Amino acid sequence: MKEKNIIIINDLHAEFIDPRNPENHIPILRGVNLEVEKGKIHAIMGPNGSGKSTLSAVIMGHPHYHILSGEILFWDKDRGQHTPIQEMEVHERARLGIFLTFQQPVSVPGLAIIPFLRKAINARQGADMPIKEFKMALNKAMEEIRMKPEFARRYLNDGFSGGEKKRMEILQMKLLKPDFAILDEIDSGLDIDALKDVAGGINDLADGERSFLIITHYKRLLEYVKPDKIHILFEGRIIEEGGMELAERLENEGYDGMIAAHGGA
Ligand SMILES: Nc1ncnc2c1ncn2[C@@H]1O[C@H](COP(=O)(O)OP(=O)(O)OP(=O)(O)O)[C@@H](O)[C@H]1O
Ligand SMILES: [Mg+2]
Repeated sequence: MKEKNIIIINDLHAEFIDPRNPENHIPILRGVNLEVEKGKIHAIMGPNGSGKSTLSAVIMGHPHYHILSGEILFWDKDRGQHTPIQEMEVHERARLGIFLTFQQPVSVPGLAIIPFLRKAINARQGADMPIKEFKMALNKAMEEIRMKPEFARRYLNDGFSGGEKKRMEILQMKLLKPDFAILDEIDSGLDIDALKDVAGGINDLADGERSFLIITHYKRLLEYVKPDKIHILFEGRIIEEGGMELAERLENEGYDGMIAAHGGA
């Protein structure tokens, strides 16, 4: 059987638990239903604070978010079936093929990029990639997204500009070749050339087998990386789904009309 959806999210409710004040529970996702088709590019749009980054963190297994109810099923290709992932550790989800680029990638002074990337690839593949092969893959990927070779000799995101960090995220994605990549505002803060390089990095991987969930506020990126479906998240729920016409509508009208039609705000 060929699977239709790489991920199926059913009536997902989740809250944030403040680690400094564990009494403080903030409900954020209020019944998310979402299916991402295998081999397709989906996009999520939605106003600030609607829960987009929270949803991606919950899918990846960020420990500060707590699932109250609902389920997340991911296609496990080794077992040939969908499997619930909500109890899994982050590294188990990565091993299944899930990858997340952060809206605000963290800098890690002291963490050298080359060993970091090599370790990530080895963990994903479950086998050690020979150093020569790794270096060739790294050089090729850097060239393709036009990152200067010097970057590989620096510490992870340390002193990187906003746009350079986003390129670094795409570099990781190109090397790890995830089955399902969630890109949280990968287009924010990019200049026009960087936007094209980032879009190129996504399109290179979009081979009809891998799936993508692109979170964005603007249709610009979606003009380069053509989404098959767009979902609108509002107050922790998907309120609308459609094609590129939704992005056009938002660009022209903003969220007000769409939200009013759903009895919100
Ligand atoms: N760590 C946190 N601490 C406090 N509140 C949080 C935390 N994480 C999320 N929230 C709250 O949950 C809501 C959803 O946040 P989230 O970051 O998921 O929104 P978003 O849709 O990604 O917004 P944006 O478009 O601005 O990136 C917001 O009101 C936010 O303040
Ligand atoms: Mg966000």
